[in-house]
Amino acid sequence: MSDDEYADDFEEYDGDNSKVSEHEHKQRDDDDGDGGDGDGCGSALADVTSSYGGDGGAPRFEAIDFRDVTMGKQVGGGGVGIVYEGYFQGRAVALKTLFDPRVDDALKREYTDELHVMARLRHPNVVRFDGACVEPPNLCFVMELCEHSLYQRLHQPAQCGTEEVDERTAAELLLGTAQAMLYLHDEVRPAIVHRDLKSHNVLVDGAGVAKLCDFGLVGSKVVSAGTPAYMAPELLEGTRGAVSRKADVYAFGIMLWEALSREVPWDGCELEDIRRNVCELEARPGVPRARASSGRAGAAAVADLYALAARCWAPRSAERPEFREVVAEMRAAIAELPAASRGGLDSIELLDAAGGFGDDALASLMRK
Ligand SMILES: Nc1ncnc2c1ncn2[C@@H]1O[C@H](COP(=O)(O)OP(=O)(O)O)[C@@H](O)[C@H]1O
Ligand SMILES: [Mg+2]
Repeated sequence: MSDDEYADDFEEYDGDNSKVSEHEHKQRDDDDGDGGDGDGCGSALADVTSSYGGDGGAPRFEAIDFRDVTMGKQVGGGGVGIVYEGYFQGRAVALKTLFDPRVDDALKREYTDELHVMARLRHPNVVRFDGACVEPPNLCFVMELCEHSLYQRLHQPAQCGTEEVDERTAAELLLGTAQAMLYLHDEVRPAIVHRDLKSHNVLVDGAGVAKLCDFGLVGSKVVSAGTPAYMAPELLEGTRGAVSRKADVYAFGIMLWEALSREVPWDGCELEDIRRNVCELEARPGVPRARASSGRAGAAAVADLYALAARCWAPRSAERPEFREVVAEMRAAIAELPAASRGGLDSIELLDAAGGFGDDALASLMRK
């Protein structure tokens, strides 16, 4: 399906304009949306089981009685929603809550939108959704509990009690994420653009499997909603019609670079810096520092993966691959990566092979 066709699907799917993320790490811009007009999410979320969008069926999920859920310690969030670990039916679960007393109709709508999306999804690389409490003020999603986010695994291994992620593991986690994206883009109908693909929104379960989460921006029509470091130039510029599957591919490219380099993309940069670099200078994250990595045996495969990242973040969306190609190329590269990846890899040699991280990107970073 082309992105034009997707746009049709998107219209069909998205019956509301109210979703604007309030999270502090996301951009708010009401120019292009109506910012939430309140539409009667009254004392109970009565509409959550109503028929939905273009797929003709009510989303299926279990309405869970809040009294059957036990809350544990906080594991994430902190903006509007907080994620806790907890227990439900004798098993450990994650509870994504919306208990904020300031919750207004727009936020309830955001909650309901995310609920609608999650209830439709079943995939080994998408966090499993068990059901939800829908009686305000006790709004919470019940999901499978994962161990960490990919962000934590990549950038805070000591806090996770794990070793630094090696390149093969990083590539496998990204392959899992790409499989989830292929599912959203090509298998779910109507297609879903995630819009907030980033390492915070990929979880890692106890078996080391990547699980995509956070569907809170799926329903948003605000072009500039998202997380700046992962936003394609057309989103940063707020181009009308910029929300497409290729914007997710761009974000994936940034995350692939992040996973291979284990560096935070655009670390410390303000939105305006990112916008100027990405849009005006067509710069992308710079040369990764040399690190312990796959050794010479895996150098060509790692170079292929960096080159794939560079194609994913191509300035023009039409030049970016689709997830079908991404998945195939990642599988081929991973097959070439040694299982136990330790040893020195000359990152300059690697980058020569990868291309796409040339002087321009580096120079523009230096100029900042
Ligand atoms: N199922 C889960 N298991 C473990 N941790 C989770 C789970 N879901 C979310 N988290 C943690 O909570 C954070 C916020 O959850 P997320 O769904 O991304 O909400 P938000 O919309 O606030 O970003 C994640 O980045 C992750 O660290
Ligand atoms: Mg999130």
